[in-house]
Amino acid sequence: MKKVLRVIGFVFGGLVVLLLFFCGYVASVGIPKYAPPITPKITVQRSEALVKRGEAIAQVQCMSCHANRDNRLTGKRLDEIPAIFGTIYSKNITQDKEKGIGRWTDGELMYFLRTSVRPDGSFVGVMPRYALMSDEDVKSVIAWLRSDRLPVQPTKEEAPEVEYSFFSKVLANTIMKPGEYPLQPILIPDSTDQVAFGKYIADGVADCYSCHSADLLDQDKLHPERSKGYYGGGIKMGSEGGKEIHTANLTFDEETGIGKKYTKAQFIQAVKMGVRPDGSILRRPMEPHPSLTDYEVGSIYEYLKTVPKLKNDIAKKNAEIGQ
Ligand code: HEC
Ligand code: HEC
Repeated sequence: MKKVLRVIGFVFGGLVVLLLFFCGYVASVGIPKYAPPITPKITVQRSEALVKRGEAIAQVQCMSCHANRDNRLTGKRLDEIPAIFGTIYSKNITQDKEKGIGRWTDGELMYFLRTSVRPDGSFVGVMPRYALMSDEDVKSVIAWLRSDRLPVQPTKEEAPEVEYSFFSKVLANTIMKPGEYPLQPILIPDSTDQVAFGKYIADGVADCYSCHSADLLDQDKLHPERSKGYYGGGIKMGSEGGKEIHTANLTFDEETGIGKKYTKAQFIQAVKMGVRPDGSILRRPMEPHPSLTDYEVGSIYEYLKTVPKLKNDIAKKNAEIGQ
């Protein structure tokens, strides 16, 4: 018996030592750096059509996280990200050569947006990774970043440095990994196939699933439909006035999802204008998306009809935390 206890003691002691080593390692490494990537040699054309498309995508994506109160992309505090990840600030991504991304090449931007790895090899785990966005749409965002539009004009202002929590550092050293740069071109699906097109807009462009699923971490960026609780909602996020709310269940479950709650027209109104059929306003971090077209949002609705229904009573969960 004594021997057994001693063996258990050794094993346990060994584990504690290993854990201490691991903690020390994580604390010293922080967010890991990878080898500087070989970025594609591309030059994105700056046509007005491409800039317009990029602007529409940026209004759904980049603006909400990078735009300050004056509507310029100088970076800001992101309080919707749960505090367990640290105090997260986005960056200045205006054309300023020192504070912004004025010195990045088109290829470096393309590589970063697809993989979350900067030209120097550092890894940004908190930003969405646009692994499924078509080449043309990513290029349109780059064309917009280079354009004469006000939000991207050079500005020196800066947000404070990100302070990642120990938890985030552990994640970045274990399960969170940069994406692979795609070897094949990525094309936009034929828009007459509304279900495929809706999936592309929802998962590839607007990143709806990353909030509307069960877990911020248990997500598959290349196969979003394998993410935990895909479109069933339930992630707790920071909202107005320091309060928290759960993301909504967007599956067509009749009781707890949107199956009976929204007609297509009402869904389009909610997503574009941020207003529910009963007139109530959708709270942050859900944002109105007026730059998506009716056809795009209607296609998301058609796609959501085909997603497996999940029972997840969000109203009850919100009531439990006093919302
Ligand atoms: C969910 C919030 C979020 C969204 C959406 C988002 N970003 Fe970011 N982005 C961040 C954060 C946070 C950082 C900085 C993280 C850090 O410093 O570790 C960042 C960093 C960057 C950087 C690196 C800048 C530098 O100097 O290191 C670039 C470039 C960038 N974002 C571009 C974009 C573009 C373009 C879009 C839209 C297609 C976008 N981001 C959408 C949160 C976001
Ligand atoms: C940054 C996280 C985030 C993203 C990205 C996001 N949502 Fe939301 N969404 C929320 C939250 C949080 C709520 C709950 C708001 C509330 O309860 O007031 C919500 C609510 C909704 C609702 C209302 C559902 C109901 O039951 O009344 C709809 C519809 C919706 N989102 C659709 C979308 C679509 C479509 C996209 C992609 C274009 C999207 N959302 C992207 C966080 C997000």
